[in-house]
Amino acid sequence: MAGNDTGEEPKADAALTAVEAGRLHAELSRIVTEANRAYFAEDAPILSDADYDAIKRRLLALEGRFPGLATSESPTGQVGAAPSETFAKVRHAVRMLSLENAFEDAEITDFDDRIRKYLGLGAHAPLAFTAEPKIDGLSLSLRYENGRLVQAATRGDGETGENVTANARTIADIPDPLQGADIPAVLEVRGEVYMSHADFAALNARQQATGGKTFANPRNAAAGSLRQLDPSITAARPLKFFAYAWGETSAPLAASQSGAIARLQELGFQTNDLTLRAEGPADLLAAYRRIEAGRATLGYDIDGVVYKVDDLALQARLGFRSTTPRWAIAHKFPAQLAWTRLEAIDIQVGRTGALSPVARLLPVTVGGVVVQNATLHNEDYIAGRDSRGEAIRGAKDIRIGDWVQVYRAGDVIPKIADVDLSRRPADAVPYEFPRLCPECRSDAVREPGDSVRRCTGGMSCPAQAVEKLKHFVSRAAFDIEGLGAKQIEMFFDDPVLRVREPADIFTLAARDSANPLQKLKNRDGFGERSVANLFRAIEERRTIPLNRLIFALGIRHVGETAAQLLANHYRTWEAFESTMTAATAGSGPEWQDLTDINGVGSVLAASVVTTFHQEAERAMIDRLVAHLTVQPAVPRVVSGSAIAGKTVVFTGTLEKMTRAEAKARAEALGARVAGSVSARTDFLVAGPGAGSKAKDAARLGVRVLDEDEWLALIG
Ligand code: IVH
Repeated sequence: MAGNDTGEEPKADAALTAVEAGRLHAELSRIVTEANRAYFAEDAPILSDADYDAIKRRLLALEGRFPGLATSESPTGQVGAAPSETFAKVRHAVRMLSLENAFEDAEITDFDDRIRKYLGLGAHAPLAFTAEPKIDGLSLSLRYENGRLVQAATRGDGETGENVTANARTIADIPDPLQGADIPAVLEVRGEVYMSHADFAALNARQQATGGKTFANPRNAAAGSLRQLDPSITAARPLKFFAYAWGETSAPLAASQSGAIARLQELGFQTNDLTLRAEGPADLLAAYRRIEAGRATLGYDIDGVVYKVDDLALQARLGFRSTTPRWAIAHKFPAQLAWTRLEAIDIQVGRTGALSPVARLLPVTVGGVVVQNATLHNEDYIAGRDSRGEAIRGAKDIRIGDWVQVYRAGDVIPKIADVDLSRRPADAVPYEFPRLCPECRSDAVREPGDSVRRCTGGMSCPAQAVEKLKHFVSRAAFDIEGLGAKQIEMFFDDPVLRVREPADIFTLAARDSANPLQKLKNRDGFGERSVANLFRAIEERRTIPLNRLIFALGIRHVGETAAQLLANHYRTWEAFESTMTAATAGSGPEWQDLTDINGVGSVLAASVVTTFHQEAERAMIDRLVAHLTVQPAVPRVVSGSAIAGKTVVFTGTLEKMTRAEAKARAEALGARVAGSVSARTDFLVAGPGAGSKAKDAARLGVRVLDEDEWLALIG
């Protein structure tokens, strides 16, 4: 709400127009400037620290969306300011997504089938794609306004990235200004920053000679070079950039993906010259084979081939799932393999109590990276049996001393592909999976049908408690600068600092200052400055977005995506918490409401509800939240959408689009699609053959639309 001087109500900011944002920015800037004067010059603060920080964050968020607001006058000091300790955050105008992965040829024909089905296209209707190498670097979004580069941002979590504009300006492949005619007023170009093999080798040689840090592979080198606080270091690193996608544009680049790539080239970008147009899966697979055959001589790393629907109108109809587009897929190259000896099996206890077996290996190089650990998944996997105890066909049991073939694909933890039984030592015995938690000696049990054995110790198991805390401070959760895994382990065991549960983090400074001896700042590895920074970082996190808080709780099955879905649906902590408290797993209106959320299944829902009903868990959550100001969720809503926030039910046959497309369109426009009609339904969209739902709607007075009326409503 403009004019609010506490900075507490940022929920509407994301929906502001440029003019409104400019007004709000000016107003908040005035308040901050006045507060600065009161604080620094008069020593008489007019705002609490939390309010001051909240306003600053609102300003930064506004500048993230409208970079033109980040002038040298802005109190955020984003322009011409001394290098900050971290990069400023940038909220992407259009989310930066990842890609669904495929490994087998059959998955590519499935991809084509799925798209045809979604669009209601017959098996023989033309459907063209593009194929292009998947560059193994890091993605970057470049925002141009009137042809000039105004902002460069890393992908971050897809919603919010880091502002690396000064660094991007040092990359020769990134044009500024754009070239040619008819340049769109706003254009966000997306692509991959990478380093060539030759440049990587030369950089590592230089680093070694000067005693600097060497990099494991070109991608790490590119990431490390782009994320330098001092742009002159980035300038000295030979980074390159391929453009392959776009975000916000004020005018369409072309009618097709291939046309858009050609247009990006005209504007001055490097695009990959192996990109081609293909008529169907057979052509795509032929392109894949060709690109794979040439991989070794390309001079830079690629890890697969990306296929995209060529027609941009079809791309628009296909839209997105929560984190990936329906119109694209990455066909990855097979993983790299190597044989080595399994020296030991360790059991790690995770935050949900899961006992995970890890293979300790004789170190071996796989695709240029030294591998010493691999996942062994669970006890059945090691035994080569399923959860009913029956031998899995073709699977071998894995024993300490065995020679195993390890593989890694992309960033994932290395896995074991095969066991060489001919080299099994004569004295090797089957592995006995522990029945007790190796950390706390509590019983470790398996629920029927679950392949995972879990420690029953809960937060009294130190390993679970520490893992929960590590998860809590991790990057997608509270992301507290200076409080990582190492510090958590140290504070957990410390008799004075005693960080045993998340709430303790917010009383850490108080415990430290109450303790006359052994102040943190005097301990090894700490100092006055780092401790001050740590405590400040903790203070800053007393205000936390709802989705981060939900994710941070470490509830089983609730990852980042689910946390975002829950936050978007319930909007405020109060609504979320009270609904979960009132809900019973399996039935009732709250349960219905929860499981109606697209992407929330009954397993996830039951896990959340149970967590809120476990006394100890619940008390811990309450103790934590007492320290926090939880920012409401600001779902991205298409401005001007007539159905944002409305609940829609579909019934009967739709003729102009498939049910899947209708549902996805409604959700993309900010509506909720429910399975059954209730008093809270806003619209029932009824095609021919509508049955009981139409009767329910009539009884409850819910507005009923036919397909054409619906299409008119959503434009
Ligand atoms: S398209 C909405 N094309 O792969 C789709 N991505 O695994 C946007 N990548 O985050 C991505 N080469 O960093 C696309 N030719 C290419 C790519 C490519 C590399 C990366 C990109 C993305 C990741 C997804």
